[in-house]
Amino acid sequence: MTWRNRGLLDQFGIQHPVLLAPMAGATNADMVIRVSNAGGMGGLGAAGLKPDKLRQVVREIKAGTELPFQVNLFAADTEHPATPAVIGPGLRDRLEGYHREMGLQELPEPRGLFGPAMEQLTVLLEEQVPVISFHFGVDQATVARIHAAGAQVICSATTVAEARTLAAAGVDAIIAQGAEAGGHRGTFQGDYSDALIGTLALVPQIKDAVNVPVIAAGGIMDARGLVAALALGASAVQMGTAFLGCRETPITEAWRQQLFSTEADQLVVTRVLSGKPARGIRNRYITELEALDEPMLPYPLQYSLSGVLRARAQAQNNPDFLAMWSGQGIGLLQETTIEALMTDLVTGARRLISEL
Ligand SMILES: Cc1cc2nc3c(=O)[nH]c(=O)nc-3n(C[C@H](O)[C@H](O)[C@H](O)COP(=O)(O)O)c2cc1C
Repeated sequence: MTWRNRGLLDQFGIQHPVLLAPMAGATNADMVIRVSNAGGMGGLGAAGLKPDKLRQVVREIKAGTELPFQVNLFAADTEHPATPAVIGPGLRDRLEGYHREMGLQELPEPRGLFGPAMEQLTVLLEEQVPVISFHFGVDQATVARIHAAGAQVICSATTVAEARTLAAAGVDAIIAQGAEAGGHRGTFQGDYSDALIGTLALVPQIKDAVNVPVIAAGGIMDARGLVAALALGASAVQMGTAFLGCRETPITEAWRQQLFSTEADQLVVTRVLSGKPARGIRNRYITELEALDEPMLPYPLQYSLSGVLRARAQAQNNPDFLAMWSGQGIGLLQETTIEALMTDLVTGARRLISEL
């Protein structure tokens, strides 16, 4: 299959307009290598990797593929919350109850989990990672630093205004993240609830507003979604949830089981897990914390409160306390492999385009 609209494909040096979404905690070197070697662009979610570990994983990727790949960080200014971390009485009570129930000791102190982004970035530039992406925005100085090192930079936008800001900062492509998307909302301007714009509406509006290539993300699960996104003016798609159905994905068995038994109306965009709005599968933790009538801690401190609990739940294969991010395409999820998914996307798109 060859694609006629080769602009972004040539810019990145890839064969097919399919990017593996860089999913922190749900992507590893093996997945990145497989997607890049299949002609797409692999993506590593690296927000939670400390610089030394990050260097090791990047070297692992480079040993497995000579083809381009993306590594993703969270914006540096989200590392330090502006508001102080006071755990309310209701929240403390709940969390302590969960800890007792799971046989755990006292609550962990709230702490930052991600970054430091600028140190992570230094590693990526030293290791000559070809494409660096950001969630929650990126500033002009960071873009200039990445360009000076010879790499490209991309970033998610959830509104036309955010896309304009990113284009003005000089990014090389913009990921239009529709409301359907799994994981954290990339919103970095205004209230996220105003920025829950569906992929079908968001992609063409961003396409018309900026002069950089647009990558569609959110709800794209198969060749139908890929072709639709291209028809809307996207130069490529970035898919997360669809890859969670691949056997190579390093997620817990409990999360995997939930993915295959949950419908789109059982998902929720919630702040209670991390402190920032993110879309995932509703479970006991989300339901009970949302019922509390008090504020959660700011991101990323809220996430750290459940760190030990999530690790124990993972060990026990218990979905009650896991963060199980997923997008609204969940009902279309196929149990497959990365190679088979990539082949289905490309051959399915060819068939669909000819039928249309
Ligand atoms: C499990 C999971 C983790 C994610 N982690 C990240 C991340 O670390 N960085 C990022 O930029 N986007 C992350 N995302 C969002 C994706 O980049 C993308 O916007 C989304 O997966 C697209 O929607 P889809 O899940 O319907 O394909 C994550 C998504 C999922 C499902």
